[in-house]
Amino acid sequence: MSEKKFSVVIAGGGSTYTPEIILMLLDNLDRLPLRAIKLYDNDEERQGRLAEACGIIVKEKDPNIEFTATTDPETAYTDVDFCLAHIRVGQLPMREKDEKIPLKYGVVGQETCGPGGIAYGMRSIPGVLENIEYMEKYSPNCWMLNYSNPAAIVAEACRRFKPNARVINICDMPIGMENNIAKILGFNDRKEMTVRYFGLNHFGWWTSIKDKDGNEYIDKLLEHQLKYGNTLPDEGNNGDYTDNSWYETAKKVKDLTALDPTMAPNSYFQYYLFGDDMVAHTNPEYTRANQVMDGREKRVFGECARIAEAGTAEGTSLEIGIHASFIVDLATALAFNTHERMLLIVRNNGAIENFDKDAMVEIPCIVGKDGYEPITIGTIPTFQKGLMEEQVAVEKLTVDAYEQGSYHKLWQALTLSKTVPSANVAKKILDDYIEANKEYWPELK
Ligand code: NAD
Ligand code: LMR
Repeated sequence: MSEKKFSVVIAGGGSTYTPEIILMLLDNLDRLPLRAIKLYDNDEERQGRLAEACGIIVKEKDPNIEFTATTDPETAYTDVDFCLAHIRVGQLPMREKDEKIPLKYGVVGQETCGPGGIAYGMRSIPGVLENIEYMEKYSPNCWMLNYSNPAAIVAEACRRFKPNARVINICDMPIGMENNIAKILGFNDRKEMTVRYFGLNHFGWWTSIKDKDGNEYIDKLLEHQLKYGNTLPDEGNNGDYTDNSWYETAKKVKDLTALDPTMAPNSYFQYYLFGDDMVAHTNPEYTRANQVMDGREKRVFGECARIAEAGTAEGTSLEIGIHASFIVDLATALAFNTHERMLLIVRNNGAIENFDKDAMVEIPCIVGKDGYEPITIGTIPTFQKGLMEEQVAVEKLTVDAYEQGSYHKLWQALTLSKTVPSANVAKKILDDYIEANKEYWPELK
């Protein structure tokens, strides 16, 4: 392997995921040697809450890696090979509004599915575009590995406004689910499986899971899911779940598979296909945003403050973000031409034969030094096609609304979302969102 060492910038440096991602990068230096790690955020105070600790962590692992935390785009984006982008425009207090406003009207309140994703998308588009522009200006050969949500809408905006940018949109949710699936099927590692999958982001299905010898496991998986969803029998919620809601999500896969027992669904379909159940089980006064602010955020910032105070990361409770190792896989594939097969969000361009060529779809791709090559999917069935056509229209109308400053386009997007019962309800949600997002959205006429 080459002796080249790489420089990375983490955009959204103040994210609570940043320390775990740094630990993961440092754990993989044999695969992806690094010479510099930079943090970039447009909120100095927030990034400052974890920057010092991150600097200590890097120095203790390898003092030759240069560490910088900055709010200056030129410093951040000059001389970088990879940008890992995970920004949240409006931060968690806006996520809370995305979730709570629809719940007021009995509609799903989730950060990427339904109205919450639409509202968040309208904020994310300019933030992601701004970062792409900095990258193109200061390091034109850099690749951006973007996992800022809502990934589907952000990917559509990239396709439309930055068609030639070196941006790869990727999501960790199918990877998390594949870890579960691997356990269910008795594999030691999800990488022992070769999968076929198609759909949109947070909106797709596995149609094949093969072992290294080419033996097919999908029927075994479906049989399991029809009984237990994605949980292991007798596991209770003591398994590998960060909290009870993820256990409930894994269990709910049973109902999703029952509706079409021929393919294995992404668990996010619970919000689209069983929205009534989801609303019934959500506390409209205390949503996921509150859980994250009271849990993860306090824990990570608290531990970073402790490390800074102690001047050492020895004995830290921060853990390597194993789930995020896909970022190293992707960067390594680009850097060393590994031809790894990965699920990416890319322009359909005929891969799904009977679907809009300009839709951004999530499908397996082969990744190498010049980027990615999608794998052909063929023809998809009517149920999946119908759901996807409706959802892709929602995503495209949202980007239309952003581009044209159009109230009607956004009202149509909300009305068309499977999670929203009528144009009446869509209008109420929209009007509340406009009020809440004054600082972020373009003016809608
Ligand atoms: P967070 O709120 O903890 O941190 C996000 C950071 O982004 C904040 O510090 C904020 O100041 C910063 N930011 C906002 N606008 C910016 C801009 N224009 N330029 C630079 N920085 C900016 O958020 P989080 O909970 O860690 O999530 C970060 C993002 O990653 C979200 O979009 C989340 O949905 C996404 N995420 C994606 C996946 C995936 O696989 N797709 C998985 C987990 C999280
Ligand atoms: C995600 O997309 O990763 C989040 O929506 C998960 C969550 O916190 O609900």
